[in-house]
Amino acid sequence: MNIRPNVYVTRMLPEAAIDLLAAHCDVEVNPEDRVLERVELLEKVKGRDAVISLLTDTIDDEILVAAGPQCKIFANYAVGFNNIDLSAATKRGVVITNTPDVLTDATADLAWTLLFATARRVVEAEKFLRDGKYQGWGPMLLLGLDVTGKTLGIIGSGRIGSSFASKAKGFNMKVVYNDIAANPEFEAATGGVFTDKERLLQQADFVSLHVPLLPSTHHLMSDKEFSLMKKTAILINTSRGPVVDEKALARALKNGEIWGAGLDVFENEPAVDPDLLECANTVLLPHVASATIETRTNMGLIAVRNILNIFSGKPPITCVNPAVLQAE
Ligand code: DGY
Repeated sequence: MNIRPNVYVTRMLPEAAIDLLAAHCDVEVNPEDRVLERVELLEKVKGRDAVISLLTDTIDDEILVAAGPQCKIFANYAVGFNNIDLSAATKRGVVITNTPDVLTDATADLAWTLLFATARRVVEAEKFLRDGKYQGWGPMLLLGLDVTGKTLGIIGSGRIGSSFASKAKGFNMKVVYNDIAANPEFEAATGGVFTDKERLLQQADFVSLHVPLLPSTHHLMSDKEFSLMKKTAILINTSRGPVVDEKALARALKNGEIWGAGLDVFENEPAVDPDLLECANTVLLPHVASATIETRTNMGLIAVRNILNIFSGKPPITCVNPAVLQAE
C-alpha cells in the first residue's frame, strides 16, 4: 500500500482492530461512546477513503454523497447490513463489507442463553433471591419448562441458525426448520427436517428466528403466527427486531397464547415496547448476541482487513455487493 488511506470509524472498537488500522492508515475514531447524530455523521464521513460503520448508522445515498467519490469502502461492523442502502452503494461504486462467520457461534450461544433463561425463569429466579424473597426450597417455586427432548423450530437456516440447531444434539431435541427452500447443508449439520412455517409453529416448543431483515421478513411473526404456536411455546429472537411485530407479541404473551419470549433485538432499538416490558415471562437483552471480547475483536479485524485489502489491490474478504468489484 503506497498511500495511507484516510479512514473514519464511527465508534470505538476493540483496540487490536484500531491498532492494525492505524498501522496502515490515517484514522479518526469517534471519541464518544455514542451513536453519532445524522448531521455529525454527514460531516465526519466527508473526504474519507473508507469508513467503518455500525449497525446503528444509517448509510444511505446522502451519506455516500457526503463521503465523496474517492470513498471506496464502508466496512460494516456487523453481519447484518440492513442499515445500508446496498443499491445506492453499488450504483456509486462503493464496496460494502460485513463481518460474517466470526460471530456465528457467539450469536448462537446467546440464543441458547435466552432459551434456557426463559424456559427456566433464570432472571426472575435470580431477582427473587436478591430481593430477599427466598425462604427455602419449595415444590411449586418458580416452575419452568423442560428443554431436553423437546422440538426446536428454526426459522432461517443460514450460518447462525445452523450453529444454533446443531448445538441441540446435546439436548436430544427434534429439529424442524423453515426457509425459502430446503437446505441440505443445514440438514446434514443438524438432522433438521424441512417443514412449512405453519406446521413448524404448531409443532415447535421453541421457535428461534435466524433470518436477515428484508421486506419479506418484516413482521414474519405477528398475530396469526402467535395464534398457531403452542401455549407452552417460547419465541427466541437474536436476528433483527422488526422481524417480530412487538405489539402482537406482547398481546400473545399477555393472553397466554405463548408461554414466553427471549429477545436480544427490538423493533425500535434502543426503545423497547412498554407492553413487552410489562410481561414477566420475557428475558430482554440489549442486543448483545455478538458481545464477547474474542468475537468483537475478530469482527473489528475483519472490517479492517477488508479496508486494507481494498487499498492493496486485493479483493475484500466479505463483500456483500460484489457487483461493484465486477464493474471495476
Ligand atoms: C450483527 O452483526 O448483525 C449483530 O446483530 C451484531 O451484534
